[in-house]
Order: sequence, then structure tokens, then C-alpha cells
Amino acid sequence: MKFNIALIKGDGIGPEIIDSACQVLDKVGNKFGHEFIYTDIKAGGCAIDEFGVPLPDGALEECLQSDSVLLGAVGGPRWDNLPGHLRPERALLNIRKGLELFANLRPARLIPVLKEASPLRRETVEKGFDLLIVRELTGGMYFGKSGRYLSKDGETAFDTETYSVKEIRRIGKVAFETARTRRSHVTSIDKANVMESSRLWRETMHELAKEYPDVELKDMLVDNAAMQLVQNPAQFDVIVTSNIFGDILSDEASQLTGSIGLLPSASLGETKRGMYEPIHGSAPDIAGKDMANPIATVLSAAMMLRLSFGLNKEADAVEKAVDDVLASGLRTQDIAWGGPSISGSAMTKALLERL
Ligand code: IPM
Ligand code: MG
Repeated sequence: MKFNIALIKGDGIGPEIIDSACQVLDKVGNKFGHEFIYTDIKAGGCAIDEFGVPLPDGALEECLQSDSVLLGAVGGPRWDNLPGHLRPERALLNIRKGLELFANLRPARLIPVLKEASPLRRETVEKGFDLLIVRELTGGMYFGKSGRYLSKDGETAFDTETYSVKEIRRIGKVAFETARTRRSHVTSIDKANVMESSRLWRETMHELAKEYPDVELKDMLVDNAAMQLVQNPAQFDVIVTSNIFGDILSDEASQLTGSIGLLPSASLGETKRGMYEPIHGSAPDIAGKDMANPIATVLSAAMMLRLSFGLNKEADAVEKAVDDVLASGLRTQDIAWGGPSISGSAMTKALLERL
């Protein structure tokens, strides 16, 4: 089969890690008889440099014409002082909104051979954990009314958290459906003791839960959830939460694994088209030095194979290659903790050999 992939390499280490993922995809294509056709799309800081805007005209249309989007990373200190609508991150937000990718899936699983990397207490690590954050991605504070005005106290700014039943239901459905393929447990995280939008969130999740009698639903306040993640992450299966809470908790969850360079993510909507990206950023400090760990991007490509293209065998093969390479002891610097490490391109080569 043939698949059209829109590539957004972006900034910093973005181009290196996307290059690795494409080599892996091409190997998969060879082995299993598929063809992946790539279209490069400039977005983020590099687009600001070239065109003066983070998401140039036509970029969104090209994404819409693709079967899926694979993204490296956008942003960097060079563009940090631009106004909000001209920052590299805008490209990401506009693609999420433009492609209606309302569901962001961020798995965080403790990889047994890397468990010494986890900052958790030993007895907590021994229990392991395998959780999936389902973050609402096109609503809430990120897209609510915001602005500045002059109040009696002087300059004042606001952002608003807005959620409709429709938005809550559709993200809830993704969580419940996904839970059915895992351990059938959903924790819905909110701040219903303070926020009205959270009270609507909670009511809606409970209404929806009636349609999934086989899935257990539990509510948790976000402050408690931040604590529980560190204390007892094994209790979580699927976590469903708002855009802003999901942003914060997913960084926390990723760090529990001790290896942000390994975690992929998928952003999905109602169609098969998704956007896949590593959860780490553009790491400008190591860009161009062949030090970046390509694994998070390679695993993002595997998620794309599985979730957008329905290529399960192929996705399994990529994930297996990653497990094997890690089990063989090969490490990039981010997961070597002072021990011997190999370059990003050597890691890519090792993955290709395993495949
Ligand atoms: C993420 C990032 C983005 C977000 C930024 C870069 C806009 O932190 O994907 O989690 O806040 O959603
Ligand atoms: Mg974030």
C-alpha cells in the first residue's frame, strides 16, 4: 500500500530525528511491501525565519491532503520573544485546531530495562506502571477567550477555560474506548471543587460512563492526581483530562519513566489522519551534534502505522526493534547516565539492523 506522509521536521533536533524515523519507515516499507511518500512542510521557527510566520499559507492544506503528519519538534530560544501569534508553538496549535485533532494520546510506561532511570522510590518502581494520558487538545484554556485590559489595578490579563458537553463527550469516548483495549479503567481528572467547567466535565463523564458499564470510572482532583502520579502510578490505566491539565500531567508522567527521549504521542480526530510527534521538545543545546535519541520519534512513527494506517504487524516490528536494541544495552546519552553511549545515527543504524 501507498501512504502520503506530511513531514514537519521543525527546529533544533527535529530534522535529525525525523530523518531517523523515515529511515525506519522505509525499511518497514521494504520488508512489508509498502511505499511511504513524504512531503516536507516548513512550520515553526524555521518558517518564521523564511516566511515571517510560523505556519505559512498552504501548510495546513498540505497536511489535510496527507494520510498523516509526522512532526519532529518546533521552537527554541531564538524565537522566544515574539508575540503570541508569531511564536513557533502557534504552528502546532493551528495544526491541532485546523485538523480537528481533539484527542492527544500520551502513553507513559516504565520500561523494565531502564527502571534505574526512574526518579521514583525503589518499591514504587518495582510495581511498574503503564498508563495512557488522553488529553483534550482543541478546547479549554488554550483556545478560550483571552486578552488584556486596563482595570482599576492597572494592566490585567485573562484566559478562560470553556468546555461544552459535546467536547467533553467526544474526548470521554476516546478514553472509554481505549480503556476497553487495555485494563478497562478510566480516571477522569478535574478541579470540580473549584471550577464550573470541571463540574460540567465530571457530570458529562458520569453520563457517558453509563454507556460503558464494563469500564470503571474514577474521578480525581488534579492536585491530588499530581501527587498520586508520584506516589502510586501503578493505579492508573487511562487518564482523561482537559487540555491544560493534560499538558502539565503528561510532562510529570513522562519524567516518571526517567527517559523523555523515549516517549511518543498521537493526536487524533474523527478521521484516520493524525499527527504523530515525540513528546520532547527541540533540544537546541544538542541540535546538529548527532546526540539526539531518535527512539521517541521512531515510536511515534510506529503509532502512526498502527492508528492511522492500520498496520499492526509493522508497528509491532518497530516496537520490537526498539525493545531489542534497548535490551542489548545500547544507549544514547540521554539514557546512559554517565555510562557508555552511542550517537543518534548509530542508534538509528542499530534499529535498522534489528528490523
Ligand atoms: C505540548 C507542548 C505544547 C502544548 C506547546 C509547545 C504549545 O507543551 O505539546 O505539550 O502546550 O500543548
Ligand atoms: Mg507540554
